[in-house]
Amino acid sequence: MCGIIGIVGQDTVADRLIEGLKRLEYRGYDSSGIAVLKDSKLLRSRAKGKIIALQSRLQSHPIDGNIGIAHTRWATHGAPTENNAHPHFAGTVGVVHNGIIENFTALRESFKGQREFVTETDTEVVAHLIDHEITLGAEPIEAFRKTLKKLSGAFALGIIIDGLDGHIYAARRGSPLAIGLGDGENYIGSDAIALASLSRDIIYLEEGDWAVITQHKIDIFDADDNPVVRPVTHTSGSLAAAKKGNYRHYMLKEIHEQPETVGHALTHYIDAFNHQAVSLEGLDFKDVSRLTIIACGTASYAGHVAKYWFEQIAELPCEIDIASEFRYRRPALDTKGMALAVSQSGETADTLAALRYCQSKGLKTGALVNVMTSTMAREADVALPINAGPEIGVASTKAFTAQLTSLLALSILAARQRGVIDEAREVELCSELTQVPRLVSEALLLDEDIQVLAQDLSKATSAFYLGRGALFPLALEGALKLKEISYIHAEGYAAGELKHGPIALIEEGTPVIVLAPHDELFEKTISNMQEVASRGARVILITDPEGALAAGHMADSVLISPACAMQTAPIVLSVAIQLLAYHTAVLLGTDVDQPRNLAKSVTVE
Ligand code: F6R
Repeated sequence: MCGIIGIVGQDTVADRLIEGLKRLEYRGYDSSGIAVLKDSKLLRSRAKGKIIALQSRLQSHPIDGNIGIAHTRWATHGAPTENNAHPHFAGTVGVVHNGIIENFTALRESFKGQREFVTETDTEVVAHLIDHEITLGAEPIEAFRKTLKKLSGAFALGIIIDGLDGHIYAARRGSPLAIGLGDGENYIGSDAIALASLSRDIIYLEEGDWAVITQHKIDIFDADDNPVVRPVTHTSGSLAAAKKGNYRHYMLKEIHEQPETVGHALTHYIDAFNHQAVSLEGLDFKDVSRLTIIACGTASYAGHVAKYWFEQIAELPCEIDIASEFRYRRPALDTKGMALAVSQSGETADTLAALRYCQSKGLKTGALVNVMTSTMAREADVALPINAGPEIGVASTKAFTAQLTSLLALSILAARQRGVIDEAREVELCSELTQVPRLVSEALLLDEDIQVLAQDLSKATSAFYLGRGALFPLALEGALKLKEISYIHAEGYAAGELKHGPIALIEEGTPVIVLAPHDELFEKTISNMQEVASRGARVILITDPEGALAAGHMADSVLISPACAMQTAPIVLSVAIQLLAYHTAVLLGTDVDQPRNLAKSVTVE
C-alpha cells in the first residue's frame, strides 16, 4: 500500500509534491513525509496523521528544492508514528517505498554491529543497502542496481541521493509505478492519478523494471538490467481530482452519483435501443467450461452476486473466491475455463496475483476494473471497464453497483453466446437492466427514512444482515459497509444459516436488517425473520411494496425500496444498505471517507 510521488523539476517541488500526495491519500493516510535536495543536501519533513498535518508542518518549518520525493503511508511494518514515516534516510540516501520488503529482517541482521537502524520499518534497510554500496565506492546507479538484486517482496521505490542533484532512481516489482513526462522535468508516481496535474504522458514501468530519471532523460532497464523502451500512454483529463461539491462526504456524493454511474456501466454492455447485450471483442463465453471470479472485499461480494447470475441466467458453472485464499490454495483449474478478476482499482495485490496464477495455468483472463490504466487491465487478456469514475470514499459504493451492473450484463451476454436464452428472454433481461438507473434514483428517496432508522442503529454494538440467494452476498456487503465506516460490529448471513449457530447471538434489541424483496424466496426469508424477531431482535425489513404489504407488520421498521425484477434487486437494494451505514457513521462522528486503519487501494498482500 502507500503512495509515492517524486519530481525532478526545474522549479521548486514541495507544494507540488503535497498536491500529488493528496491525490494518493486513498492509498493510506496514517503518516506522510517529503524529502528534497537543497544545495545538494537531503532535507526532510514528516508528520503523523493525514497529509494536512504534513502541510501545516511545512508551513511552520518550510523546506524546498528542485528535486524531491514524498510518501503517504499505510503502516505494515512499524506503528504509524512520525519516526516510522517515510522518506527514510541512511547516510546519503533517502527512500520512499510502497510494498513490503519480505527479507528485511535478514538484511538488517547482515548489518548487525555496523549500522544503526532507527525505525521499525522494512524500508529503512533499502536506504542502508544503497548507502553501504556507495561508501564501498560504487557509483549510485550501481549501488541501486546491486541493492535491487538483494531485495525480495513486492515494492515500488523512489530514491534521491545526497550530493547527486537531478536524479531520481525508481524501481517496480510487484507494486505499480508510473513515470510522468514533463517539459524540462519528469516525475514518478504510484499511479497516473498522482501525476494528473503534472503530466498526461505516462510510462508504466513493467514488472522488474528500474529507472534513472533526470530532468531531460529517462533510462529504463528491465529485470535483467537491459535497457528497454516502454510505451508512452496519453491519459485522459478524467483523472482530474474529483470534487466533493455540496456533499458533506465523498461517500454521500458517490452514493448519489449511482443513477448516473450505473447508466455509464450499462452503456458499455447493453444496447439499450435493441435491448441486447453488446458483443465485446475478445470475449466469448460459448465454450467456457467454468468461470472463476477472484476479488477482495466489496468487489468479491459483487462477484458472489454474479455467481448466481452466471449460473441462473447463463447456466455457466461459476466459482468465486477471495483472492488471498485462492492464490495459495492451489485451485484445480480447467484450461477451458475463464478467470475474471473484479477490482475497482485494478491494483489489489492479492487479486493481481490470483489473476497471474490463472494466466500461468493457461486460462483466458478478464479484468473488470474501474481504472483502465491499472495493472490488471493491462495484464488481462480482456479489460472490461465499469465506468464509475474516480471513487474517493474508501468505502466502495458506486464501484460496487457498477460492478454488479456490468456483471449482470455480462451474464446476459454469456447466456446468449451459450445459446441458453432466446431473443425474447434477452430483451426482457436487458430491459429490466436498463430500468436500474431510474430505480436507483427512486431508492435514493429513502434517504430521510434511513436517517431516522440510523438513530437507533448508531446505539447498537452489534448488528446482523440477512438475505437469501443473490441477496445473501448483499447482506455480507451491508455488514461490511456498517463495520468499516461506523465501527459497529456486524455480520452478514445467509438467512437460512442463522439457526445453525449464530442465532445464539440474538438478544433483546439486537438490530437485524433483513433483505427480502417479494421474490421466490420471500416466504423463506420472512420465516427466518420471524425466528429472530421472536428472540427479541429489532428487525429492519428492506423490501419492495409487495413485500411490505405481506410482511411489513412483522418487522419493527420497514424500508420500501422500489419494485424491481428479481435479477436487479441486488443493485437496487444496495442503495438502502449504503445509506444506512453512511447515516449511522455520520451520527457516530467517524471519519466516513477515510475510516481508521483502512486504505482505498490495497497493494500489499
Ligand atoms: C470496502 C472496499 C474494499 C475493496 C477491496 C478490493 O468498501 O472498498 O473491500 O472492495 O479492498 O479493492 P479493489 O476493488 O480495488 O480490488
